[in-house]
Amino acid sequence: KIIALLTGGTTGEWVISVKSAATIAQNLDADKFEVYKIMLTQQGWFYEPADSMKIEVDRNDFSLTIKGKKITFDGVFIAIHGAPGEDGKLQGYFDMIGLPYTTCDALTSAVTMNKGYTKAIVNGIDQLHIAKSAQIFKGGDYSLEQLKKDLKAPYFVKPNNGGSSIGMTKVNHPNDLQAAIDKAFKEDTQVLIEEFISGREFTIGVVKLDGKVTALPATEVETAKEFFDFEAKYTPGVATETTPAVIRDETRVRVEQIAKNVYAKLNCSGVVRIDFILTEDEGDFYFIEINTIPGQTATSFIPQQVAAAGIKLNDFYTKLIRETIG
Ligand code: DAL
Ligand code: MG
Repeated sequence: KIIALLTGGTTGEWVISVKSAATIAQNLDADKFEVYKIMLTQQGWFYEPADSMKIEVDRNDFSLTIKGKKITFDGVFIAIHGAPGEDGKLQGYFDMIGLPYTTCDALTSAVTMNKGYTKAIVNGIDQLHIAKSAQIFKGGDYSLEQLKKDLKAPYFVKPNNGGSSIGMTKVNHPNDLQAAIDKAFKEDTQVLIEEFISGREFTIGVVKLDGKVTALPATEVETAKEFFDFEAKYTPGVATETTPAVIRDETRVRVEQIAKNVYAKLNCSGVVRIDFILTEDEGDFYFIEINTIPGQTATSFIPQQVAAAGIKLNDFYTKLIRETIG
């Protein structure tokens, strides 16, 4: 099969996307797939086989013309975190030109990019708890006083459509709420203010392989920092990540079932990763968010969880492509 591996993107997460695509490229079996890595940037969509050679994609059919020969693809492996790969825009485009891709569809991608809307949909899933929150809009008439009345500190303030914790703040004191909101509005036109839930942080991949939705072994994340921020996420050694997480069997069964229910309720495809907080004494799971294009860098959770499941990464990607592209 001829596969386009898409990377880059237009947000601060593009650096991570490039690393994710590198892992994927290294682990796509050469005897099964002919892979063209294509970089999407604000300047254009390019295939760069060599430093001096930059070939622009024909956006009418997503084809390349290399030395007079036209190349069309059987499918697209999207490795772009944030816009326009994780937010449904590319999925809508590929639906229109009839090219299959590895991810959730346009609607699910668009909704899940928005943390506030996602919470509204997953609310009600059995045994899944949702922190109290408010969603505010740039130029909208929110009242700081009302927010402080409605929500108890400490807070998490997040760009609603963000990723990798960019623009996010943990606010310990209500006096610091406005500054955190201003910071988040630099990244996004919508901001989510959530009550902080104290507990342990977990993340778990869910994937449909061989026609069956499966949860991967969950990871526990521990950091000495205030929260699992961009630095803790991507600097080796700043966070401790344990896969499979050390939890009671009952807790593991519960989180796997909740994660699969989230996957089903949001009508997901491909591989996603869901982040949770587990309260003290392995009590309640609180939903943080879902990532429909989870990181695939060498140190990311999904490759760790795939290894812990006893699956070779190249077999995992082969099955993922078979399942989504055919
Ligand atoms: N948003 C980052 C890439 C992740 O979820 O892994
Ligand atoms: Mg995320």
